[in-house]
Amino acid sequence: MHLFSAVPRGVLTLLFASLLLSLADAHSYFIVTSPTQGTQLQNGAANRITWIKGLLDDIDAFDVEMSRLSVDGLILVARDVPAGSGSFNLFLQDVPSADDYYLLFLNSTSGVMFTTSSRFSIGDSSSNATATEPDSSAPTVTISGGPNPLNDFATTFPPSANGVAMPGWKAIEGSKGQLIGLFTAMMLCMAGGAFTLL
Ligand SMILES: *[C@@H]1O[C@H](CO)[C@@H](O)[C@H](O)[C@H]1NC(C)=O
Ligand SMILES: *[C@@H]1O[C@H](CO)[C@@H](O)[C@H](O)[C@H]1NC(C)=O
Repeated sequence: MHLFSAVPRGVLTLLFASLLLSLADAHSYFIVTSPTQGTQLQNGAANRITWIKGLLDDIDAFDVEMSRLSVDGLILVARDVPAGSGSFNLFLQDVPSADDYYLLFLNSTSGVMFTTSSRFSIGDSSSNATATEPDSSAPTVTISGGPNPLNDFATTFPPSANGVAMPGWKAIEGSKGQLIGLFTAMMLCMAGGAFTLL
């Protein structure tokens, strides 16, 4: 309990803040790794979409939508994408060429946004810009044309696909409990240290 009594209070505060920050990061770690800034996706081709995310956020599936910065409207790409799969291919047909597209990864039922991609462009396969190579082992989702409010999601992944994320889930849950336990213990310990300084 008196372990921290020799440590200046400012250091404790910093330590505490960084501990909180790292926990927050672990909780919300979810990044679209392709497309990235400047990537050009091609019409008439399958383009690989990839992401990485933390394991402790309880997100086992999400919905993907595509939008543009300068134009209203959403293209509903895929529903219930299994989060553990890490990638799918997006086949584009006659999607308007532009350089201000971005992807939204969210729960479209609750409206909770998990992450967004960087801004990327969509062009024609006749242009020579580098495309992202499709992943032959991943499912392919096809979308045609621009935003259309009458369209539903182009693809809904089957519930069984969500099972991908299930093995070892109990272990993850367990380690999460331990993490919270450790956090509480450290917090109590620090509070004890802080009190001896007052
Ligand atoms: C989205 O949110 C709703 C309502 O909170 C929830 O019932 C559903 O399971 C969530 N969907 C996914 C894929 O997590
Ligand atoms: C694309 O590549 C072809 C053949 O390699 C070349 O002839 C053409 O000029 C290139 N187009 C552009 C826009 O760079």
